[in-house]
Amino acid sequence: MTENEATVAAVDWEAYEREASAAVAAASGPTELEDARVGYLGRKSELAQALRGVRDRESGMLLNGIRERLEAAVTQRERTLEGEELDRRLREEIVDVTLPGERLPLGHLHPITQVRRIVEDAFLGLGYEIRDDREVETLEYNFDKLAFAPTHPARSPRDTFFFDESHVLRTETSPSQIHALEEHEPPIYMVSIGRVYRRDAITATRYPIFHQFEGLAVDEGITLADLKGTLLHVMRALYGPERRIRFRTHFFPFTEPSIEPDVSCGICDGAGCRTCKHTGWIEMGGAGVVDPQVFENVGVDPERWSGFAFGCGLERAAQLRHDIPDIRLLWEGDLRVLRQF
Ligand code: PHE
Repeated sequence: MTENEATVAAVDWEAYEREASAAVAAASGPTELEDARVGYLGRKSELAQALRGVRDRESGMLLNGIRERLEAAVTQRERTLEGEELDRRLREEIVDVTLPGERLPLGHLHPITQVRRIVEDAFLGLGYEIRDDREVETLEYNFDKLAFAPTHPARSPRDTFFFDESHVLRTETSPSQIHALEEHEPPIYMVSIGRVYRRDAITATRYPIFHQFEGLAVDEGITLADLKGTLLHVMRALYGPERRIRFRTHFFPFTEPSIEPDVSCGICDGAGCRTCKHTGWIEMGGAGVVDPQVFENVGVDPERWSGFAFGCGLERAAQLRHDIPDIRLLWEGDLRVLRQF
């Protein structure tokens, strides 16, 4: 008798099968089931060892029978456990596809961008081209070609940010007039919108960075009346259809005559209130008829062509549209403020 033959005889196989079946049936998860399988059917199990030593047909049939039944029981138990696991997950991991999704907070356009778009739309409607020019300018484009006198105070580093002797952060969008005139033959209808820079202390009404929209129309027979009508169109787009426009004389180096357009105050409708400083009017910027000197500086014939130009602040427009008392609120990025517009 070999050692294995001895094992076959020494074990109560009926009890072995009972015990094994019970362990398989009791396994409450895949790990326990695997433990039972390895213990009763694995290579080192008593059954496997005994099977290796089987010499006679009878013990072979007995042990193989046990093995097959146990294997079937393991497979069966595996399926049951998988089914239970699936049921559990279906129960616990319920996804209700009919629930409304979580709303992500959507941002919105900054008030300056909003008025910028209103201005762009108003001028696109009139057939104007929208330009976007450089913010770093040469003295030539920021001052010389716009006919600023050599002694004009804006040329001083006290008023203007200089990079070096010949470059500044543009102090207005007016250099765009020169670029447009140099790039196209008239007729020209363009609006340039963007940032400008001045060495001002920050206060409720001034900020060293701000935005302007600049317009230039050059054609045959253009007059101040065209300017008035054009500005009225934009002011009504910005502030409503009831607005009126008036002109006050002024001075700019590159327009002659120069004017400052005012728009009637929408808060008091011209009667006078705090916003319009009790005048009934609100100042919009600068404008005028293009000075012949500017045309000569860019090689356009002032005998044939005439035009008007204007420049207005976008911050001013946003403040008036929304009654924002302090320009700093537009630059601080405080969402409690910006969410209101
Ligand atoms: N550039 C002038 C300013 O910033 C405004 C202006 C533009 C005046 C065009 C006349 C013509 O004050």
